[in-house]
Amino acid sequence: MTVDDRHVIVIIPTYDERENLERIVARVTSSTPDAHVLVVDDASPDGTGAIADRLAADDTRIHVLHRSVKDGLGGAYLAGFAWALDRGYDVLVEMDADGSHQPEQLHRLLRASADGADFVIGSRWVPGGSVVNWPWHRVLLSRGGSLYSRIALGVGVRDLTGGYRAIRAATVERLLADGIQSAGYCFQVDLAWRALRSGAVVTEVPITFVERERGESKMSGSIVVEALLRVTGWGVTRVFRPQRLRAAR
Ligand code: GDD
Ligand code: MN
Repeated sequence: MTVDDRHVIVIIPTYDERENLERIVARVTSSTPDAHVLVVDDASPDGTGAIADRLAADDTRIHVLHRSVKDGLGGAYLAGFAWALDRGYDVLVEMDADGSHQPEQLHRLLRASADGADFVIGSRWVPGGSVVNWPWHRVLLSRGGSLYSRIALGVGVRDLTGGYRAIRAATVERLLADGIQSAGYCFQVDLAWRALRSGAVVTEVPITFVERERGESKMSGSIVVEALLRVTGWGVTRVFRPQRLRAAR
């Protein structure tokens, strides 16, 4: 089954998402019936993995990758990317399990991808983008984190930390070739920055990010500190390689 003649897989990393998983999978399969879904579960104590297995048993479009340890969002996506590349998917989508990334807007990302973008970011911070029900401190963290990253890395992308993306398989393959370190959320910044430096066509499309209604965010202070330290380090090293990059829109 293909979307615009391309095999699309939506990779959903999960940790304790039992209240959200069934809903988000149903929304993906109804809004993009020809896409497949890969749930990457890190041995969630709340039984998310068993729910994923039940969904996969009922629908051949749904797949599950169980991991034995919780080693961060980046590790989950790296495992999911490898799984998808091994099976020949053409477009790899990143999507949170908690409904923050609306499957009904996935067509915007896939349209930009079909129009030639290698790396599409569903962006909260471009005209038309927005957030709903997000507490001010999270807006501040996201906007501040994106602004800080933009300045430190010298890039024009406005939502570097967001995790709603559609990336061409060949681009993912190229980006993973030189080893991505970031385990936590700065994985998102790392991946986008590598794409920009690799000369990939990076495009932002507006999305509406809706704060989760069930379960807890896994964001933590240590994740923020890791991101801050890494982005600062990348920014300092960048000084020796004066290369200004901008997102193609
Ligand atoms: N497998 C696995 N392992 N999944 C994880 C882990 C992990 O260690 N940590 C988080 N997740 C999953 C969550 O279950 C959820 O599906 C998704 O990653 C995002 O986690 P949230 O806890 O909802 O993150 P957030 O609400 O703070 O969102 C921020 O980070 C996201 C991830 O980059 C925002 O910036 C989002 O735009 C972004 O997508
Ligand atoms: Mn969330």
